[in-house]
Amino acid sequence: MTLETTTSTEATFPSPETLGVSAPIAASKWVVMKFGGTSVSSRANWQQIVNRLKQRKSEGLNTFIVHSAFAGVSDALEALTKTPTSAIEQAERIIELHHEHASSLELDATIIDADIQELRRLVRRLDSGQLTRIEVPTIMGIGELLSTRLGAAFLNRCGLDTCLIDARDWLMTEDAPLNPPSDRPQLAGVCSFEPDPALQKAISEHTSVLTQGFIARTPEGRDALLGRGGSDSSAAYFAAKLQAQRLEIWTDVPGMFSADPRIVPSARGLKSLHYDEAQELASMGSTVLHPHTLTPPARFGIPVFVRSTSQPELAGTCIAPHPPGAVASVKGIAFRQGLKLISMESLSMWQQAGFLASAFGLFYKYGVSVDLISTSEATVTVSLDPLSNTESVEFSQLLDELGSICSVNLLENCASVSLVGRNIRTMLHLLAPAMSVFAEHKIHLLSQAANDLNFTVVVDSDQGTRLTHKLHDAMIQQDTNHDTFGASWEELNQLPEQVELPAPWWQIKQQALVELMQGRDCAYVYHGDTIRERAAALHSMTALDRALYAMKANPNPQVLQIVYEAGLSFECVSPGELQRLFELFPNLDRRKILYTPNFAMREDYQYGLDSGVRVTLDNLFPLRHWGEDFTGREVFVRLDPGHGRGHHELVRTAGAQSKFGVPLFELDELETLTRQHQVRVTGIHAHSGSGIMDSSNWHDVGHVLSAAAQRFSEVNVIDMGGGLGVPEKPGDAPLDVIKVDAALQLLKADYPDYQLWMEPGRYVVAEAGVLLARVTQTKGKGDVQYVGVATGMNSLIRPALYGAYHEIVNLSKMGQTPTERYTVVGPNCETGDRLGLDRLLPRCESGDILLIANTGAYGYAMSSRYNLREPATELVL
Ligand code: LLP
Repeated sequence: MTLETTTSTEATFPSPETLGVSAPIAASKWVVMKFGGTSVSSRANWQQIVNRLKQRKSEGLNTFIVHSAFAGVSDALEALTKTPTSAIEQAERIIELHHEHASSLELDATIIDADIQELRRLVRRLDSGQLTRIEVPTIMGIGELLSTRLGAAFLNRCGLDTCLIDARDWLMTEDAPLNPPSDRPQLAGVCSFEPDPALQKAISEHTSVLTQGFIARTPEGRDALLGRGGSDSSAAYFAAKLQAQRLEIWTDVPGMFSADPRIVPSARGLKSLHYDEAQELASMGSTVLHPHTLTPPARFGIPVFVRSTSQPELAGTCIAPHPPGAVASVKGIAFRQGLKLISMESLSMWQQAGFLASAFGLFYKYGVSVDLISTSEATVTVSLDPLSNTESVEFSQLLDELGSICSVNLLENCASVSLVGRNIRTMLHLLAPAMSVFAEHKIHLLSQAANDLNFTVVVDSDQGTRLTHKLHDAMIQQDTNHDTFGASWEELNQLPEQVELPAPWWQIKQQALVELMQGRDCAYVYHGDTIRERAAALHSMTALDRALYAMKANPNPQVLQIVYEAGLSFECVSPGELQRLFELFPNLDRRKILYTPNFAMREDYQYGLDSGVRVTLDNLFPLRHWGEDFTGREVFVRLDPGHGRGHHELVRTAGAQSKFGVPLFELDELETLTRQHQVRVTGIHAHSGSGIMDSSNWHDVGHVLSAAAQRFSEVNVIDMGGGLGVPEKPGDAPLDVIKVDAALQLLKADYPDYQLWMEPGRYVVAEAGVLLARVTQTKGKGDVQYVGVATGMNSLIRPALYGAYHEIVNLSKMGQTPTERYTVVGPNCETGDRLGLDRLLPRCESGDILLIANTGAYGYAMSSRYNLREPATELVL
């Protein structure tokens, strides 16, 4: 058997001692490893699995592997049991899939013949209506029997002598407390998990053992299942029975996240959790772990690691008695959809003993499990365990019988959003901004868990995702506790194949950059050709009559020279910026300069008016109080279109929360004041924010402005501001200026009399600049490795101020495989002096040059002499 060798390294495991593991557990030779359906369904993943097993072997550890059915098979088997008419056909498809897996693993498919015959036999019984309910678990568990037979054979052929055992011989479900009638199949059983000397003895001769997840036996010897996702539970039971040194859950995501990444892509990886927190997250909706998984390891203090089979270099989540660094209070926002609530109202329950007892007695009688509860004098509202079968006869009987003791209201389609973490009570005051979502929407149930590990809000389903986002933004996004929170889902899943972009200029100029740095510690370097290319792209927008460069982004004289030669006009915000232009370009037509001061002094406006540039008013105050200064003058007026956009809250420059622009409700007064002072409004302007990737923004803003412009007969320019975003991370799609242009052409068709202007800053210069800084030293602290560079927030404040992401590469080691995870920091005396968190880089040594990309805009321009450290000098290539 030949397997390609893989280069991916595996993140190391912290030693049991540092996690607070007891001596007997730490001394165990057994490691239980669970591989999920996706993990065992591809050849590439098998290569990873073999590598993991060989690694354990080389460390003298024995491996106990718990293996799921192939991806999709359990679903297919479940569907088959529900649609007997097409069961035979469906079963054949499942069989074919296993034959395909066998051939992709180069195995002889006859080894699964017996299981296939059994599947065919059961399906024939189903087809002829003879199958009894208690045989359903047998059919549904066949996927595991088939896949593990192939898995074990594959490992043996790879030279890993592996013994296959039948999980049903070792996992026995406990009798359900509600004593299900004997004809009810056991689909979500719970097993006992005491240390099992018999099992330990049975496998003591082997160093590698493989078994099935999901399946078990009832005390009567019938097949049973452990619930969907129950392979995690199987692995946890085996870890406890073997008293294993650790439990490794290998799945298709790199650990647990602070929210469901499908809802919140910026959800952050959770590096470490206590058992109870992880349990709470799993129970409240995180789907990475089955809720039953944590009880057995928690009982014996066995650490649990959740990692990704295809990305073993990531450390994932560590769940342990004393996980390193776990101090943050809120760890995650869990979200569950499709929840049902029963609200029971009865005036007679007030001061009456026994109402709850009789109501809950009925839930007990019909086997319906309750999840959350809230009560008032006359109403008790409960949410139902999402696993309860509310379509069943028992459920409607429950509602009927409840109806005889109170009035019952069933609310469907609810969602629960839970804050999960430690000491939640102390954090509740931070919730206020997020809860503003509910000014207009109803909260059906609020519940604060008695253990103080969760706080849950139940709302209508359609509000759930909004609330999840808001809570995540408010409670986690800004959290700087990097011991608990790792890289975000988005960061971990940068898909370079998403967009094929040409290599950035600095990759091609690597040698020249290294030479430029000789004798220097740090420098900003700008690439003239990139600026020229961006200017050309703006000129190619046919709907645009003028592109102005917002020079606040980068007012470096050489950069301005390139922009000037490339034919862009300028947008300025201060007398200082105006003066720089006047000095550099004495012949520049001043009408090509738009001056847009904000909350500026009276003299600043006068300076602009006197120097002959176009002045923009962004407030009525100057007209109300200094009207005579403007008499007979021509002005632009900056409006607030009412809705801000941009990469961060602090760069959204429209809407009620921003100080910019004349609000639309003041248009009447604007008209009166301009008439009164004989001021001529010739341009209407807006700038809704910075770093906008939505190509429709400028068209939409242009519409609002053009409609407002109808009131002023002399307007001939509509300036839709800047804000054009640039890709932040490798693989991000760039803003499509052709699309922006196409949208503007529609605007132009609606308002042919207006010239259309835009005034981007970032778009012109951001990608043209890099910050280079030499590594001064490295340091490891707990789990975090720091690499220190010669300059920090004094040169580039964007990461500290906005949490902005700038790609970082080791220019001295370009092309080398990134193996280390670093937090890149500067020399300033602030914890926030970080240029990048959790960045994968080749090993960094002092003297290496790190390159911080996309820093041509708002880099040097926003630098400071903080700590009396000069910012990096600027050089132009
Ligand atoms: N026009 C006006 C009136 C502006 O206020 C701005 C930027 C622009 C144009 C240019 O926006 P751009 O195309 O560069 O996005 N320091 C922040 C950006 C603040 C932008 C302030 N105004 C950052 O580093 O992201």
